[in-house]
Amino acid sequence: MPTNITPVLAVNGISKKLGGRKILKDISFCVFPGEIFGFLGPNGSGKTTTIKMILGLLGIDKGSISICGFDVGTEFEKAAAGVGGIVENPEMYRYLSGRENLQLYANMYGNIPQSRIGEVAVTVGLEDRIDDKVATYSLGMKQRLGLAQAILHRPRLLVLDEPTNGLDPAGIRDLRDILKRISQKDGVAVFISSHQLAELDLICDRIGILDGGVLLKTMTIAEVRSAGGSESVLTLVIDPATAPMVPKFLERLKTEDPSVLHGNVEHEEIPDTIYALSDAGVRIYSAEPAKSSIEDVFLALTEHREAASGDEKPADQPETGGTPAGPGSGEEADGQ
Ligand SMILES: Nc1ncnc2c1ncn2[C@@H]1O[C@H](COP(=O)(O)OP(=O)(O)OP(=O)(O)O)[C@@H](O)[C@H]1O
Ligand SMILES: [Mg+2]
Repeated sequence: MPTNITPVLAVNGISKKLGGRKILKDISFCVFPGEIFGFLGPNGSGKTTTIKMILGLLGIDKGSISICGFDVGTEFEKAAAGVGGIVENPEMYRYLSGRENLQLYANMYGNIPQSRIGEVAVTVGLEDRIDDKVATYSLGMKQRLGLAQAILHRPRLLVLDEPTNGLDPAGIRDLRDILKRISQKDGVAVFISSHQLAELDLICDRIGILDGGVLLKTMTIAEVRSAGGSESVLTLVIDPATAPMVPKFLERLKTEDPSVLHGNVEHEEIPDTIYALSDAGVRIYSAEPAKSSIEDVFLALTEHREAASGDEKPADQPETGGTPAGPGSGEEADGQ
C-alpha cells in the first residue's frame, strides 16, 4: 500500500487482557481507503475483541486506535462518526419494519435525508421487503438490514465481524458484490473478519493473519498468490489416447487417470513443458497452474508458529478464572 495515503484505520500496538489473560498482544496494522482488508484467524484468536476495540465497545489497555485520524480513546465521537459496523448479531426491533428500524438510526445521526434510507435498501437488495416487519425477515435479510444500518451514515470505514454467518451461497455472493461496490465506488475501507479462508480469498485486497492474539503477518493478495515460491502445481487434461506419447523426462507427471497429468513444475518451465508434451504428440485440452491460496499461507504460518512457539499457550486455552462477560459489558471482565 502507498505510504503517502492516510489510513482510514490505524491500529498502533494494541494489547488487551480479559479475565486475567492476555487476549491481544501488541497488534499493529492500517487499512486504507477503498481496500478490503481480511482479518483472519481461528476461533478464539481475538478477532471480535479487536473489532470491539475499534468500535469503542471495549477499552484499550495499551496502544491506540485512530479512525480517519481521530483517536478512538480520546476523540471517540469524531472517530465513531467515520465508522459503521456489525459485531455478532445486529440488534433490530422485530415489531418495526426494516425502514422504521433504519429511521431510528437515521434520527440518531440527525442529518440523514429520507432518500438515503431507500438508497441503502437498494444497495443491500432489500428494497422489496423494507416495509415488512423485521420479525418476518429471514436470517439473511436481517444481515442485509444490519449492513444497511452500518452504511447509512456513509462511514469511511466499514467493520464487519463474520458477516457471512448464516448466509446461503447466493447471499454470500451478494454480500461480496455489495462490499466490492462500496469499496471501489465509494472508496470505503472495509475491515472484515472471518475464519472462512476461501471466502476471504475471493474478496480481499489484503489480509492480516491473527493467531493466539498475535498478528503473524499482513500481506497483499498478490503476495499470497506468489507465496508458494517459483513452483506451481500444474494440472493438464489430455487426450488419454495420447498418454503413451508423454516423453520420458516428464513421466513423473503421469497419474492413474490417463487423461490427467499433474505435478510440480517450476513456474519458468511451464511453457517449455507444454511445448515438449505437444511436440511429442500429446493432445492437451487444458493446462492449469494452481496458485497459492490464503489457506496455504495460513496453514504454513500457523504450523510454523506451533513449531517455533514450543509450549507457549495460545490465547484461547481453557480459562483459569474470570467469567466471560457478555457484549457491552466492557471492562468488568478485565484483569491486569
Ligand atoms: N469478556 C471476556 N472475558 C474473558 N475472556 C474473554 C472475553 N471475551 C473474549 N474472551 C476470550 O478472548 C479470546 C478471543 O476471543 P474473541 O471473541 O476475540 O475471538 P474470535 O477470534 O472472535 O473467535 P471466533 O472466531 O470464535 O469468533 C477467547 O479466548 C475468549 O474466550
Ligand atoms: Mg469472533
